[in-house]
Amino acid sequence: MINKKKVQEVLNNVYLNGHKTSIIENNFVKNIIIFNNEVEIDIDINHPTLHVKKKLENDIIEQIKKLSNDIKIKLRIKVISKKNTLNETISGKKLENIKNIIAIASGKGGVGKSTITSNIAISLNRLGFKVGVLDADIYGPSQHIMFDVEKSKPTVKTIKNKSVIVPVLSYGIKLLSIGFFTNNSQALVWRGPMATKALNQLINDSDWGNLDYLLVDLPPGTGDIHLSLIQSVSVTGAVIVSTPQNIALADAKKGVKMFQYENINIPIIGLIENMSYFISDNTNNKKHYIFGKDGVKNLSDDLNLNFLGEVPLSTSIRESSDVGHPTALQENSENSKIFHNLAKSIVNKVNYRNKNLEPSKIVKIKNMDGC
Ligand SMILES: Nc1ncnc2c1ncn2[C@@H]1O[C@H](COP(=O)(O)OP(=O)(O)O)[C@@H](O)[C@H]1O
Ligand SMILES: [Mg+2]
Repeated sequence: MINKKKVQEVLNNVYLNGHKTSIIENNFVKNIIIFNNEVEIDIDINHPTLHVKKKLENDIIEQIKKLSNDIKIKLRIKVISKKNTLNETISGKKLENIKNIIAIASGKGGVGKSTITSNIAISLNRLGFKVGVLDADIYGPSQHIMFDVEKSKPTVKTIKNKSVIVPVLSYGIKLLSIGFFTNNSQALVWRGPMATKALNQLINDSDWGNLDYLLVDLPPGTGDIHLSLIQSVSVTGAVIVSTPQNIALADAKKGVKMFQYENINIPIIGLIENMSYFISDNTNNKKHYIFGKDGVKNLSDDLNLNFLGEVPLSTSIRESSDVGHPTALQENSENSKIFHNLAKSIVNKVNYRNKNLEPSKIVKIKNMDGC
């Protein structure tokens, strides 16, 4: 006969990812109720990774089944927030009109973060979502070029006695970019507090209206802009872009670690591999893995994160970005199908994240030692 003690005993074999002691010893198990052949378990954890939660569920079920195979298991795993994240914004305003803020990041520059951002924005819009893009790459803003609005300037209007910036609209996407306010030589001196302030204004003092997704194209690396973004708004999750090349993967890993750092704790929605392969016209659709094969997929597996998909190295992807008409706009083309599927995959993972994890919060960083 199954009893509470036996359940506790088997749960003592279950470890939450990264912990050296069991979920019982860590006091994660809050309640065990046994009724006939049904066991109900309440667990509180403070780890936001979706895979970790899923693995924990599987491990618990496996252990309980050892006690009896026909037992019904009801698991309630609650993800509680860390004490050092506070639900407040610097300006004291919450962005309730924006449902999901997705940070698009990479470790290394030039891996295609901006190209992927623009194409996913267009694909999300084609799926019926209201989408905004914020180009936060102070070192090399490029979304204004990709969206063919290089010469445009956002206007300013007054709402409730306050001046707000109105994003530029292109291909159905609302766009704001640091590139609208600087030229290339200025961008360099914009580092530090000035850039942080500008970013804050572009997010908090702009008339984004209602959005399902705001994609934030971040600069490469893990610098000030990343930290100011996550301290200015509640980021739903991060998407990491990398090529399969070792040198890019190492940097991508650092990018992941920054979002997972315990004072930051932003869920990783998944990883995208760009420039995965090249298909030349005269080799019968044979894929050439120029930068190595499956690098990002393997990294995702190693880190227990979602692999969202791969994007080929393609002349038309590059050309269409250069002329300000992203490839995802070309309905029924192979490349647009690839981005369409990536967008669908992001929507699924974000929905899953929103259902299973706590709502995102503004990060309040106290101590970045070891990040
Ligand atoms: N899948 C791809 N196929 C071909 N060219 C690409 C692809 N992805 C990006 N590029 C090109 O590589 C360069 C860097 O891409 P970009 O999106 O600006 O990278 P990042 O934003 O990471 O610095 C650009 O010239 C872009 O057109
Ligand atoms: Mg870029």
